[in-house]
Amino acid sequence: MSVLDSLLDASPTISVGILTADLMNLQQELAQLEVSEVQFLHFDVMDGCFCPMMTVGPPFLRGIRTPLFKDVHLMIREPLDKVESYVAAGADIVTVHAESSMHVHRVLQHLGTIPNAVDPYRGLSRGVALNPGTSLAVLEPLMDEVDMVTLLAINPGWGGQSFLKSTFSRIAQVKEMIAESGRQIALCVDGGITKQNISDLAGSGVDLVVTGSAVFDGKTPLANAKYMLEALRSK
Ligand code: DX5
Ligand code: ZN
Repeated sequence: MSVLDSLLDASPTISVGILTADLMNLQQELAQLEVSEVQFLHFDVMDGCFCPMMTVGPPFLRGIRTPLFKDVHLMIREPLDKVESYVAAGADIVTVHAESSMHVHRVLQHLGTIPNAVDPYRGLSRGVALNPGTSLAVLEPLMDEVDMVTLLAINPGWGGQSFLKSTFSRIAQVKEMIAESGRQIALCVDGGITKQNISDLAGSGVDLVVTGSAVFDGKTPLANAKYMLEALRSK
């Protein structure tokens, strides 16, 4: 089964942000996720140029040994020549930002030529992400080149933000664009999703919700993951 089929089969589901885990006890934290229904681990890659924070790169991605799918969110400038190193490090989903390249269509085309390094039969899922201030119109020429569209509900790289309410209308519009495309495309929302607001996304048509600190709270990631999944599926 391909990564995309697994995602759509599990929809709606969550992708858990690994950078919010207790990195000093990462193996134990991941072990709890691996016995939950969670199938996706979200890696936020930031280069300090596309957005102000710097995080991790291919060595970290490669070093994480897990049966979970590696969902890699590239918040890096000009990713065209860099995406292969993330695929080689084990990415199953690679999402690039429409704002991060002069030639985002070319980046997606290039990604479409690279096999999944973990298991070629899984396929490599291609995603495009939009910051909250980017018009949905940029998606129109990309719909044939993506398996997933990610809407950022916060501006990536700055801490302490809240989920932007404008995301809800953007979700509805992208769902329509996906339906019109006639293609199997997953819809993902990323950023600012908490125990308090995840039920607002239930029934919205979102396939994948990225959440980090709501799951890895330093106490009970397994119980938190179960709570988030139940709340997301409550409608
Ligand atoms: C934006 C990142 C998100 C975010 C998720 O900064 O793309 O993945 O960090 O983490 P939480 O759920 O803690 O906001
Ligand atoms: Zn992310």
